[in-house]
Amino acid sequence: MAPAKMQKTFSISFDMFQLLVGLSELIDLVSREMVSHHKYVSFLAYHIGKTKGLPQGQLKELAMAGALHDIGALSLQERKASMAFDLSQEHAEAHTKPGHLLLSTFKPFTAIADLVRCHHVRWQDGAGEQYQGKQVPQNAHILHLADQIAVLIQPEKEILGQIPEIVDQVDAQSGSMFVPEDIEAFMEVASRYSFWLDLTSPSVCNILAEDLPFGALDMDEDEFMELAELFRRIIDFRSRFTVTHSSGVAVVAEKMAQRAGLNARECLEMKIAGQLHDIGKLSVPQEILEKKTALTHQDFTYLRKHPYYSYRILQSIDGFERISEWAGLHHERLDGRGYPFCLKKDQLSFGSCIMAVADTFTAITEVRPYRTSLSSRMTLNLLQGLAENGKIDPDAFDLIKGDIHEINDLRAQAQQASYQESKEFIAAIGQDPESIPSPSLD
Ligand SMILES: [Fe+2]
Ligand SMILES: [Fe+2]
Ligand SMILES: [Fe+2]
Repeated sequence: MAPAKMQKTFSISFDMFQLLVGLSELIDLVSREMVSHHKYVSFLAYHIGKTKGLPQGQLKELAMAGALHDIGALSLQERKASMAFDLSQEHAEAHTKPGHLLLSTFKPFTAIADLVRCHHVRWQDGAGEQYQGKQVPQNAHILHLADQIAVLIQPEKEILGQIPEIVDQVDAQSGSMFVPEDIEAFMEVASRYSFWLDLTSPSVCNILAEDLPFGALDMDEDEFMELAELFRRIIDFRSRFTVTHSSGVAVVAEKMAQRAGLNARECLEMKIAGQLHDIGKLSVPQEILEKKTALTHQDFTYLRKHPYYSYRILQSIDGFERISEWAGLHHERLDGRGYPFCLKKDQLSFGSCIMAVADTFTAITEVRPYRTSLSSRMTLNLLQGLAENGKIDPDAFDLIKGDIHEINDLRAQAQQASYQESKEFIAAIGQDPESIPSPSLD
């Protein structure tokens, strides 16, 4: 007899494209020059592919790859460099390699990761069929063309007036940078004014989704945890000082939820919320996250926005009502002096209070650019003070106080595992793995 299947506590159905677009909007918030870049590339790649008669499956891959293609540009400097026309191989490698490494950790994204890896390979009259001894997917050349068209668009100027110059500049590179058939497909698309008006419309993603319905994607617990892990890496790997942060928050929050008697599904949602609570930080330039000197007023305005974006992006997923609330309210304080919603005690659910304590606990027990970690005793004293001063929920604090050593061990183990993983990532992209501070094991 076959063994009885374990009852899963979690299954979800959501629109992956909408989620990726939400993610790409966050990445493009790091600077005004980038606004809408990923959306542009997604739309352009889709239409060039469609005109070439590609099947729906490949068009979906192109649209998703467009929404994620520069995800490996971790710093603002790299991101700005990625926005050049005909950029150097050095600048291309600096973001295509990490982007590929990150995305290929999630199996369903393997094909998308391969497109991202090669999205700056020049065609060179056919020599671009190969790159570094490997076959380049044909559609990576479409993504390249779409990206380069997008960087030529000047968002502050009226779009129709820009068409002749963009078309001429791209056409001049037919055969050298781009595949001639891709250029032909683009010329056909570009001849319609409506294409450019759709491209630069605020509803561009809805227009694309109407044309190419992605439909809901069903995921079970294991599949979704893998996706959440990918997002966690994308969030945390942007700063050497936070590479292990969300993995720590996730296990601490999950343990606290178990101690509070939440049911299995709620405990799992708490873990997911912990992994994704800082997803809004994708809108914060890496240079601010890594600053060793005092933050300026402007730096703070950037930072203060991140839980708002965490809340909004997670809220867009059906079935994520609790997760978005627990994740998005982690900087609220009982006295109403938190951010960004400035909610007070009676407006905050216990789950949100657990997340706020888990985040604070993890933040003060790990190493930061401006200080080392605190000991367990100092951590307890600090949290006690916050509870007494009406900042954090005393009942949520009690869930840690009971046995701080067990929780701290869990945090240290989870952070040690993600520390090793991030060191491998940093080494694989050619940077010094020793530049990552080790998480505190006290
Ligand atoms: Fe790029
Ligand atoms: Fe790009
Ligand atoms: Fe945060």
